[in-house]
Amino acid sequence: MKTTTLCAGLLMVSATVLAQNIQLPAPQKSGGKPLMEALSQRQSAREFDAKALSEQTLSNLLWAAFGFNRDGKRTAPSANNRQEFEVYAALEKGLYLYNAKDNALELVKSEDLRAKTGRQGFTSVAPLNLIYAYDTKKMPDEKMAYADCGFISQNVYLYCASEGLATVVRGAVDKDGLAQAMGLKSGYAVALAQTVGYPKTK
Ligand SMILES: Cc1cc2nc3c(=O)[nH]c(=O)nc-3n(C[C@H](O)[C@H](O)[C@H](O)COP(=O)(O)O)c2cc1C
Repeated sequence: MKTTTLCAGLLMVSATVLAQNIQLPAPQKSGGKPLMEALSQRQSAREFDAKALSEQTLSNLLWAAFGFNRDGKRTAPSANNRQEFEVYAALEKGLYLYNAKDNALELVKSEDLRAKTGRQGFTSVAPLNLIYAYDTKKMPDEKMAYADCGFISQNVYLYCASEGLATVVRGAVDKDGLAQAMGLKSGYAVALAQTVGYPKTK
Protein backbone atom coordinates (compact mmCIF):
# COMPACT_ATOMS: atom_id res chain seq x y z
CA MET A 1 0.00 0.00 0.00
CA LYS A 2 2.74 2.36 1.05
CA THR A 3 4.75 1.45 -2.07
CA THR A 4 1.73 2.18 -4.30
CA THR A 5 1.25 5.56 -2.67
CA LEU A 6 4.94 6.33 -3.05
CA CYS A 7 4.89 5.31 -6.75
CA ALA A 8 1.82 7.46 -7.41
CA GLY A 9 3.54 10.37 -5.66
CA LEU A 10 6.69 9.94 -7.71
CA LEU A 11 4.68 9.77 -10.93
CA MET A 12 2.91 13.00 -10.01
CA VAL A 13 6.22 14.72 -9.21
CA SER A 14 7.84 13.61 -12.47
CA ALA A 15 4.72 14.65 -14.43
CA THR A 16 4.93 18.09 -12.82
CA VAL A 17 8.63 18.39 -13.67
CA LEU A 18 8.02 17.30 -17.27
CA ALA A 19 5.08 19.66 -17.51
CA GLN A 20 7.39 22.52 -16.72
CA ASN A 21 9.36 21.98 -19.91
CA ILE A 22 8.04 24.12 -22.75
CA GLN A 23 7.35 22.50 -26.10
CA LEU A 24 7.76 25.41 -28.48
CA PRO A 25 5.64 25.86 -31.61
CA ALA A 26 7.49 25.09 -34.86
CA PRO A 27 9.74 28.01 -35.85
CA GLN A 28 8.50 30.17 -38.71
CA LYS A 29 11.28 30.03 -41.27
CA SER A 30 9.93 32.45 -43.83
CA GLY A 31 9.11 36.14 -43.78
CA GLY A 32 10.95 38.84 -41.90
CA LYS A 33 12.77 41.81 -43.36
CA PRO A 34 15.08 41.40 -46.34
CA LEU A 35 18.67 40.89 -45.18
CA MET A 36 19.92 44.34 -46.26
CA GLU A 37 17.12 46.03 -44.31
CA ALA A 38 17.83 43.93 -41.23
CA LEU A 39 21.51 44.83 -41.48
CA SER A 40 20.60 48.50 -41.79
CA GLN A 41 18.67 48.26 -38.53
CA ARG A 42 21.03 46.05 -36.49
CA GLN A 43 22.04 47.88 -33.33
CA SER A 44 22.47 47.46 -29.59
CA ALA A 45 19.79 48.69 -27.19
CA ARG A 46 19.98 49.16 -23.43
CA GLU A 47 16.40 50.11 -22.64
CA PHE A 48 13.72 47.44 -22.65
CA ASP A 49 10.01 47.08 -22.09
CA ALA A 50 8.99 44.39 -19.58
CA LYS A 51 6.44 42.81 -21.98
CA ALA A 52 6.94 39.05 -22.32
CA LEU A 53 7.89 37.40 -25.62
CA SER A 54 5.40 34.90 -27.02
CA GLU A 55 6.37 31.23 -27.34
CA GLN A 56 6.28 31.66 -31.13
CA THR A 57 8.78 34.52 -30.91
CA LEU A 58 10.99 32.48 -28.56
CA SER A 59 10.89 29.57 -30.98
CA ASN A 60 11.75 31.74 -33.99
CA LEU A 61 14.49 33.58 -32.10
CA LEU A 62 16.15 30.44 -30.74
CA TRP A 63 16.00 28.70 -34.09
CA ALA A 64 17.56 31.77 -35.71
CA ALA A 65 20.23 31.77 -32.98
CA PHE A 66 21.39 28.17 -33.14
CA GLY A 67 18.69 25.90 -34.52
CA PHE A 68 19.23 23.08 -37.01
CA ASN A 69 18.74 24.19 -40.60
CA ARG A 70 20.09 21.03 -42.30
CA ASP A 71 20.78 17.49 -41.30
CA GLY A 72 22.69 17.90 -38.01
CA LYS A 73 23.96 21.36 -38.86
CA ARG A 74 23.01 24.76 -37.57
CA THR A 75 22.11 28.35 -38.45
CA ALA A 76 25.50 29.43 -37.01
CA PRO A 77 28.84 27.94 -38.10
CA SER A 78 31.30 26.49 -35.58
CA ALA A 79 35.00 25.75 -35.90
CA ASN A 80 35.45 22.12 -37.02
CA ASN A 81 31.68 21.79 -36.64
CA ARG A 82 32.19 21.27 -32.91
CA GLN A 83 28.78 22.80 -32.05
CA GLU A 84 30.09 23.34 -28.55
CA PHE A 85 27.57 25.95 -27.47
CA GLU A 86 24.43 25.59 -25.45
CA VAL A 87 21.91 28.41 -25.37
CA TYR A 88 20.16 29.05 -22.07
CA ALA A 89 17.13 31.29 -21.71
CA ALA A 90 16.72 33.19 -18.43
CA LEU A 91 13.04 34.08 -18.22
CA GLU A 92 11.09 35.49 -15.27
CA LYS A 93 9.69 32.02 -14.53
CA GLY A 94 13.00 30.22 -14.65
CA LEU A 95 16.15 29.18 -16.42
CA TYR A 96 15.72 26.95 -19.47
CA LEU A 97 18.07 25.10 -21.80
CA TYR A 98 17.21 25.32 -25.51
CA ASN A 99 16.89 21.82 -26.94
CA ALA A 100 17.26 22.54 -30.66
CA LYS A 101 16.56 18.95 -31.75
CA ASP A 102 13.19 18.81 -29.98
CA ASN A 103 12.45 22.52 -30.32
CA ALA A 104 11.81 22.72 -26.60
CA LEU A 105 12.89 24.68 -23.56
CA GLU A 106 14.01 22.35 -20.78
CA LEU A 107 13.57 23.68 -17.28
CA VAL A 108 16.89 23.92 -15.44
CA LYS A 109 15.81 26.02 -12.44
CA SER A 110 12.51 27.57 -11.38
CA GLU A 111 14.27 30.76 -10.38
CA ASP A 112 14.45 34.21 -11.95
CA LEU A 113 18.18 34.56 -12.73
CA ARG A 114 17.87 37.53 -15.09
CA ALA A 115 19.60 39.96 -12.70
CA LYS A 116 22.52 37.55 -12.32
CA THR A 117 23.14 37.42 -16.07
CA GLY A 118 24.88 40.78 -16.07
CA ARG A 119 26.01 43.89 -14.31
CA GLN A 120 23.51 46.23 -16.00
CA GLY A 121 20.10 46.99 -14.48
CA PHE A 122 18.10 46.36 -17.66
CA THR A 123 18.76 42.61 -17.47
CA SER A 124 16.00 42.23 -14.88
CA VAL A 125 13.57 44.43 -16.83
CA ALA A 126 13.85 42.67 -20.19
CA PRO A 127 11.84 39.44 -20.48
CA LEU A 128 14.73 37.36 -21.82
CA ASN A 129 18.45 37.03 -21.28
CA LEU A 130 20.23 34.44 -23.35
CA ILE A 131 23.35 32.86 -21.90
CA TYR A 132 25.86 31.30 -24.26
CA ALA A 133 27.82 28.56 -22.50
CA TYR A 134 30.19 26.11 -24.14
CA ASP A 135 31.66 22.69 -23.55
CA THR A 136 35.37 23.35 -22.98
CA LYS A 137 36.18 19.69 -23.71
CA LYS A 138 34.56 19.88 -27.14
CA MET A 139 36.30 23.21 -27.78
CA PRO A 140 39.43 23.75 -25.64
CA ASP A 141 40.49 26.79 -27.73
CA GLU A 142 38.79 29.77 -26.05
CA LYS A 143 39.43 32.07 -29.03
CA MET A 144 37.62 29.70 -31.38
CA ALA A 145 34.77 29.37 -28.89
CA TYR A 146 34.33 33.14 -28.70
CA ALA A 147 34.40 33.37 -32.50
CA ASP A 148 31.67 30.71 -32.66
CA CYS A 149 29.69 32.60 -30.03
CA GLY A 150 29.83 35.76 -32.13
CA PHE A 151 27.97 34.06 -34.96
CA ILE A 152 25.16 32.95 -32.66
CA SER A 153 24.92 36.43 -31.21
CA GLN A 154 24.84 38.06 -34.64
CA ASN A 155 22.02 35.73 -35.69
CA VAL A 156 20.08 37.02 -32.70
CA TYR A 157 20.93 40.62 -33.59
CA LEU A 158 19.65 40.10 -37.14
CA TYR A 159 16.49 38.33 -36.02
CA CYS A 160 15.79 41.19 -33.59
CA ALA A 161 16.45 43.82 -36.26
CA SER A 162 14.09 41.97 -38.57
CA GLU A 163 11.31 41.75 -35.95
CA GLY A 164 11.63 45.18 -34.31
CA LEU A 165 12.99 43.71 -31.08
CA ALA A 166 15.71 45.27 -28.92
CA THR A 167 18.89 43.40 -28.01
CA VAL A 168 22.44 43.78 -26.74
CA VAL A 169 25.18 41.20 -26.42
CA ARG A 170 27.10 41.45 -23.18
CA GLY A 171 30.54 40.52 -21.96
CA ALA A 172 30.15 42.40 -18.67
CA VAL A 173 29.02 39.32 -16.82
CA ASP A 174 30.26 37.72 -13.59
CA LYS A 175 30.80 34.49 -15.49
CA ASP A 176 31.84 32.28 -12.59
CA GLY A 177 29.05 33.65 -10.37
CA LEU A 178 26.52 33.12 -13.13
CA ALA A 179 27.75 29.59 -13.86
CA GLN A 180 27.36 28.79 -10.18
CA ALA A 181 23.87 30.30 -9.97
CA MET A 182 22.86 28.31 -13.06
CA GLY A 183 24.32 25.09 -11.70
CA LEU A 184 26.24 24.85 -14.97
CA LYS A 185 27.62 21.39 -15.72
CA SER A 186 31.30 20.85 -14.95
CA GLY A 187 33.53 21.50 -17.96
CA TYR A 188 31.17 24.19 -19.34
CA ALA A 189 31.98 27.91 -19.34
CA VAL A 190 29.85 31.00 -19.85
CA ALA A 191 31.10 33.09 -22.79
CA LEU A 192 28.61 35.91 -23.36
CA ALA A 193 25.04 36.84 -22.51
CA GLN A 194 22.50 38.67 -24.65
CA THR A 195 19.42 40.57 -23.53
CA VAL A 196 16.31 40.54 -25.74
CA GLY A 197 12.97 42.28 -25.43
CA TYR A 198 10.68 44.88 -26.88
CA PRO A 199 12.08 48.40 -27.17
CA LYS A 200 11.10 50.61 -24.26
CA THR A 201 8.08 52.73 -25.11
CA LYS A 202 8.75 56.34 -24.15
C1 LIG B 1 31.94 40.81 -27.35
C2 LIG B 1 31.04 41.99 -27.01
C3 LIG B 1 30.80 42.30 -25.69
C4 LIG B 1 29.95 43.36 -25.36
N1 LIG B 1 29.64 43.60 -24.07
C5 LIG B 1 28.75 44.55 -23.75
C6 LIG B 1 28.33 44.75 -22.40
O1 LIG B 1 28.77 44.07 -21.49
N2 LIG B 1 27.41 45.69 -22.15
C7 LIG B 1 26.85 46.46 -23.14
O2 LIG B 1 26.01 47.29 -22.84
N3 LIG B 1 27.23 46.30 -24.44
C8 LIG B 1 28.14 45.36 -24.77
N4 LIG B 1 28.47 45.14 -26.08
C9 LIG B 1 27.81 45.92 -27.13
C10 LIG B 1 28.76 46.97 -27.72
O3 LIG B 1 28.97 47.98 -26.76
C11 LIG B 1 28.15 47.54 -29.01
O4 LIG B 1 28.06 46.51 -29.96
C12 LIG B 1 28.95 48.69 -29.54
O5 LIG B 1 28.87 49.82 -28.71
C13 LIG B 1 28.49 49.11 -30.94
O6 LIG B 1 27.12 49.46 -30.91
P1 LIG B 1 26.08 48.75 -31.89
O7 LIG B 1 25.98 47.31 -31.52
O8 LIG B 1 24.77 49.48 -31.65
O9 LIG B 1 26.57 48.92 -33.29
C14 LIG B 1 29.35 44.12 -26.42
C15 LIG B 1 29.63 43.80 -27.75
C16 LIG B 1 30.44 42.75 -28.05
C17 LIG B 1 30.67 42.38 -29.50
